Amino acid sequence: MSEYILVTGGAGYIGSHTVIELINNGYKVVVVDNLCNSSYDAIARVEFITKQKVDFFDVDLRDLESLNKVFDKFPIKGVIHFAALKAVGESTKIPLAYYDNNIGGTITLLTAMQKHEVKTIVFSSSATVYGDATRFENMIPIPEHCPNDPTNPYGKTKFMIEHILKDIYGADNQWQTAILRYFNPIGAHPSGLLGEDPLGIPNNLLPYLAQVAIGRREKLSIFGNDYDSHDGTPIRDYIHVVDLAKGHIAALNYLKNLNGGLYREWNLGTGNGSTVFDVYHAFCKAVGKELPYEVVGRRGGDVLNLTANATRANTELKWEAKLTIEDACKDLWKWTTENPFGFNIDNYEWKVFSDDKEDYRNRLHTVKYDNFEVSFANRGAIIQKIVKNGINVVCGFDEPSRYIEKSNPFFGTTVGRVANRIGHSKFELNGKTYTLESNESSNTLHGGLDGYDKQYFFGPVAKQFKKDDKIINTFEFNYVDKDGHNGFPGDVECTIKYTVDDSSVAIEFVGEHLKDSPVEETIINLTNHSYFNISNTKSTDGTVIKAITNKQLEVNDELLPTGKFVPTHTDITKPTTLSADCAFDYCFVVDGNGSGIDTRDSELKQVIEATHPNSNIKFIAETTDPSFQLYTGIGINTPGFEPRSGFCIENARFVDAINHKEWANQVIVKKGQSYGSKVKYSFV
Ligand code: NAD
Ligand code: UD1
Repeated sequence: MSEYILVTGGAGYIGSHTVIELINNGYKVVVVDNLCNSSYDAIARVEFITKQKVDFFDVDLRDLESLNKVFDKFPIKGVIHFAALKAVGESTKIPLAYYDNNIGGTITLLTAMQKHEVKTIVFSSSATVYGDATRFENMIPIPEHCPNDPTNPYGKTKFMIEHILKDIYGADNQWQTAILRYFNPIGAHPSGLLGEDPLGIPNNLLPYLAQVAIGRREKLSIFGNDYDSHDGTPIRDYIHVVDLAKGHIAALNYLKNLNGGLYREWNLGTGNGSTVFDVYHAFCKAVGKELPYEVVGRRGGDVLNLTANATRANTELKWEAKLTIEDACKDLWKWTTENPFGFNIDNYEWKVFSDDKEDYRNRLHTVKYDNFEVSFANRGAIIQKIVKNGINVVCGFDEPSRYIEKSNPFFGTTVGRVANRIGHSKFELNGKTYTLESNESSNTLHGGLDGYDKQYFFGPVAKQFKKDDKIINTFEFNYVDKDGHNGFPGDVECTIKYTVDDSSVAIEFVGEHLKDSPVEETIINLTNHSYFNISNTKSTDGTVIKAITNKQLEVNDELLPTGKFVPTHTDITKPTTLSADCAFDYCFVVDGNGSGIDTRDSELKQVIEATHPNSNIKFIAETTDPSFQLYTGIGINTPGFEPRSGFCIENARFVDAINHKEWANQVIVKKGQSYGSKVKYSFV
């Protein structure tokens, strides 16, 4: 069984990278972080990367009662303790806050551990405990036995905590304590999704240089070029944060294999020193241009050389740093360009969208423009709200519990693995017959009983950028739909990417049939089930629609396509007014030839436009798909909403394509292939 590791400070820079490595190594993780120097978005991104749930508690380490509750709830086997304040300069100005937070927090943590008989801890210490190692001869590179002499309150908190841990081990030698003394962690996750997100003006070399490179700071100040090094600038041991994170797994594994207790220190560094100019040149190379700098006077407290002797970690922990400064610079630059403001996006906010305020699985994410606002939630990766000029133009619930009710007619949800109907809940693939559960007479509708509307998607990865002077926000959610779920074959990873600007929401649907899936082929058909209403009343009656096509799939009594295309009852290529007598629930054919499995490279075609005399909003739907279901909401029957409260434009492949030979290639996805499509809803 996998073991739970409690990670304090797991939303922070080193903590979040370590959580990824823990999960990659089969550990289950609980994170406690009060977010005083981080953002929950880091955890959401860890989940997005690993596709695993990370239990998270917004708890201050000094709050013993809350901490005890976390220990009560999970079978915690060990702790990695990152949570601390860490700015050297700040610690000299507010030392009491540093002693209170770092030492106070550690004492509370150890009290809770003792109470729950958890006696394994990996502690984030720092090379700063050595102070100026050049005060001795032969102490560079610095070995663990180098005498300690921290020169600032931050360093002293690390020094004192090491001693507290040593004394606890002295009193009870069952304790397994790994002291990891980090040298200079740099870089970011190679995915570009995680990195350091310093608040205010960065103190450290690379975060500062990164902000110069994207134009947030004018130039780098190099603190002195009169040191005794090859170019006159000080020497440090810069270690890629991913290597550092892996060092924690090595330490945990080492402790696990011990018979008894231990207290021991290990340096985590590369063993190689680099000067400020070495790092500067490596980063300029990653950026592709020379960055402005100025040499200024020495910074107080800086020393010539802090390079690790990492032999002890190399031999005992069987760990060594593998990545280079060039790797770190490349990854940092990717992180910086893709997230120029870190996790902080001006017009975006989120809140927990669950009756249980500690349930971070379902959050409501809102992005706001002057006259446009959109909200998404994790459950179903739904569109919960779109507000244009003060008018809510989609049906949605304000109370999260309403989405779980049976009468919810798929409001705003992502629909999958196969949207719309599968005839008689059966299909054949590769000579095998698959039988699904029926949830609409004898058919399977919208993926079945446990469809995507009921799944918690990970993410979102929220990003912002500017294009042609417009601010664009993207929100990416993902979910892994495993082989056998709802009766469908194959492992599929779905990614739903929303792109929002000041008047539109575009959706990119991707369903990747994973390379190590147990079957050769599966079927996928994804869509979104938002109900639009631009009338500013509870009913869409009076909405005037006009479509690109009048051609629909002919259906039989069971609402299954016969294979023929027929004209619809009213010619909707001409302006058509919706009412009880003029309703639709048909699949309209945009391209009679159908499509391949990935339509994302096709042109977005306008398929519907709608207006209403009560409002000055024009609705436009565009898609790359060969068809769309126009459903005018005749069956809506849930408190607060009546029939025809909204209409859906569900872009998708032909209904029941898998059971029609000539259409099946629209939905069959081979192992390693991706299904793809796009839709865009504009409100102008
Ligand atoms: P970070 O600030 O990004 O992460 C620390 C995390 O701890 C933050 O998420 C913060 O919100 C949380 N935290 C702080 N006080 C807390 C409290 N009382 N209760 C709950 N959460 C709290 O810093 P980081 O760079 O990831 O550093 C992690 C650890 O490594 C720290 O202990 C730091 O001292 C140590 N360290 C860092 C460096 C470095 O250069 N980054 C070098 C040596 C050692
Ligand atoms: C500092 C802390 C250390 C902490 C580490 C990472 C001190 C004495 N040590 O290490 O405890 O673990 O940060 O958080 O503060 N430099 C410039 N211009 C800049 C910034 C830095 O020239 O704008 C130079 C510095 O002089 C130094 C090197 O770059 O030679 C690295 O500096 P920095 O990133 O701040 O780390 P350290 O000072 O080594």
